[in-house]
Amino acid sequence: MEKIKKLILENKAWASSKIQLDEKYFENMAEDQNPEYLWIGCADSRVPPSEITNTDPGEMFVHRNIANLVVHTDMNLLSVLSYAVEHLKVRHIIVCGHYNCGGVKAAMSPKSLGMLNNWVRNIKDVYSVNKSEIDLIKSNVDQVNRLVELNVIDQIKNLAHTSIIQQAWKEQKQPYIHGMVYDLKTGILKNMQSLGPDYAVDEAHRYEF
Ligand code: CO
Repeated sequence: MEKIKKLILENKAWASSKIQLDEKYFENMAEDQNPEYLWIGCADSRVPPSEITNTDPGEMFVHRNIANLVVHTDMNLLSVLSYAVEHLKVRHIIVCGHYNCGGVKAAMSPKSLGMLNNWVRNIKDVYSVNKSEIDLIKSNVDQVNRLVELNVIDQIKNLAHTSIIQQAWKEQKQPYIHGMVYDLKTGILKNMQSLGPDYAVDEAHRYEF
């Protein structure tokens, strides 16, 4: 319980520090949100999105899961995406992976993880498609890190394959989608690839509206 008491006390101290700088801080914040970004990141505790991007409350709508996956049957993610794109009209979506990701490591291992196999299976597909490239890399750590990069590139394509994004590209000429990787060892974000309304979705994944 001591740990929880500490959280509550830290929260009180944080709230009062905000009020000291601006006494209407929470009053104004409570009215509405108008975030510029949707962040889809790994649930890993070492990659807190607002902290590593120095964004304030209200600036970033956030969804996190194991290994930052965009799965087209995930109602949780699709609901977040739909709300962020169609109602909040975010201008940018960031899919952020990170080097040494446990989910990606699990996908490269033959070890069964029970229920988690079914989630990690999505990364196994990316691994399978890119295995010849990854096998050429000497160290195990570098193999994992390359799959982390290839995974975010695959996930931004998965976003581009949703009707939510394609309709927004047609009607709003936004959002821009960025696949990024966070380096735990340096604290630096690397942009791997960006997609926008001019991205040519392959015919099989293209919707008509
Ligand atoms: Co991770």
